[in-house]
Amino acid sequence: MMQHLLGLDISTTGAKALLIDTNGAVVASHTVPQSVSTPQPLWSEQDPADWWENMVQAVQAVLGRTGLADSVMAIGITGQMHGLVCLDKTGEVLRPAILWNDQRTGAEVETITAKIGAQRLIELTGNQALTGFTAPKLLWVRKHEPKVYEQIAHILLPKDYIRFRLIGDYATDLAGAAGTLLLNVAERRWSHEVLAALEIPDDWMPRTHEGTAVTGKVSQAAAEATGLPAGIPVVGGGGDQAAQAVGVGAVEPGIVALTVGTSGVVFAPLASYAYEPEGRLHAFCHAAPGLWHFMGVMLSAAGSLQWYRDALAPGADFDVLVNEAASIAPGAEGLQFLPYLTGERAPHPDPVARGAFVGLTARHRRGHMTRAVLEGVAFGLRDSFELIRQSEAGREIKQVRVSGGGARSALWRQIMANTIGVPLITVDALEGAAYGAALLAGVGAGIWPDSRAAASAVRLGVETLPENDRSAYEAAYQVYRSLYPALKDAFAALAGH
Ligand code: XUL
Repeated sequence: MMQHLLGLDISTTGAKALLIDTNGAVVASHTVPQSVSTPQPLWSEQDPADWWENMVQAVQAVLGRTGLADSVMAIGITGQMHGLVCLDKTGEVLRPAILWNDQRTGAEVETITAKIGAQRLIELTGNQALTGFTAPKLLWVRKHEPKVYEQIAHILLPKDYIRFRLIGDYATDLAGAAGTLLLNVAERRWSHEVLAALEIPDDWMPRTHEGTAVTGKVSQAAAEATGLPAGIPVVGGGGDQAAQAVGVGAVEPGIVALTVGTSGVVFAPLASYAYEPEGRLHAFCHAAPGLWHFMGVMLSAAGSLQWYRDALAPGADFDVLVNEAASIAPGAEGLQFLPYLTGERAPHPDPVARGAFVGLTARHRRGHMTRAVLEGVAFGLRDSFELIRQSEAGREIKQVRVSGGGARSALWRQIMANTIGVPLITVDALEGAAYGAALLAGVGAGIWPDSRAAASAVRLGVETLPENDRSAYEAAYQVYRSLYPALKDAFAALAGH
């Protein structure tokens, strides 16, 4: 009988169960949508009980449709990173989970940076403190909800709450753990120094595992709830970005994953721990054992084109717009677009950065503006590549595996290949992080010896080579780089800061 692997993804927008076979082919997938609650401005929360209910439904749907419950060999878990789930000593949830995109913790970010020191924090955790990370959320609960805080006995990340309900134990994976700001990322263990400085008890932290390691087995209670047989191993898996990278085969240094969705993510595996000296890139553990990765996050990538179409050409077909841009020369006759429509993370961690067209003249037409948007996003992504290349550990980039809605346009891929100067190859990654989680489960179950072997299941698509003459892109990029520093103060003033 054919054996199968199950990937579970608890994302912000849905609970997904994905069943693949041991050749890596997708057999069935089901997603139960979920929404975010915003009880106050800047807050973003979800109820962990809803996650579990939705995931149970998704698993039941996939197993019911295929009748393959008995052939599932292992389960991998992925999901939204950085969220905080607080549990008491009996495992009861104490308050709604505070999510990755919650912005309430500005003061706590400052406290953490002051207590540990900006430089030491980056050395230890690979990152500067950001409002989205887990540690500042815990400090917020301590200050604002002391009655909740005094009952905490365990903290978990969102996907590890699903794991807890499946195996009955408190465990996490190192890729996810790295997004808490509490991990010693170089040593792949909780940082006693950071925990002590922030007065967070060590025994609240779940056990850490590599992404392919077995963290526990499906309990009798979970078997009854889901229809899965009891005793199936549940592997570590990884945070959504690391699992997505596994799902496109970015599991060795030199092969970079570029996801051009609403946001844009540049994910570069590293053979040894490195951090960007100013923390402008994230440095996390990879879900592939023994590797690390740099990650640059652009907040509005394909989101910029979407905004542009909706605001300036409502109803226009993307293909029509992009065709107009194709007939404009590289550099858009001196027109530039800055893609910071929703602030930025890399390389300018600045929540009040703004978008801009710079260099408009009476000659410019819609095609120039579209071209400037496509190029501006490519330039912003190159900024992350430049930071990665500055580090010894990230120097050699051989291939970029590109996925997401923005990767469907041949022109945009060519602009990105020319801007970054590296071949791009498309990967059909419709099932996203869940696919990578299922591959990690396959390694844990012994189907593949390691994550590189698992990545051979990944199906590659079209290759786009950089053209020989890229001088117009290079010249335009140098101007682009000068624009954020020139406009930074104006952006802050416009935001009333
Ligand atoms: C990663 C990040 C997002 C969330 C939600 O740093 O913030 O990818 O994991 O998807």
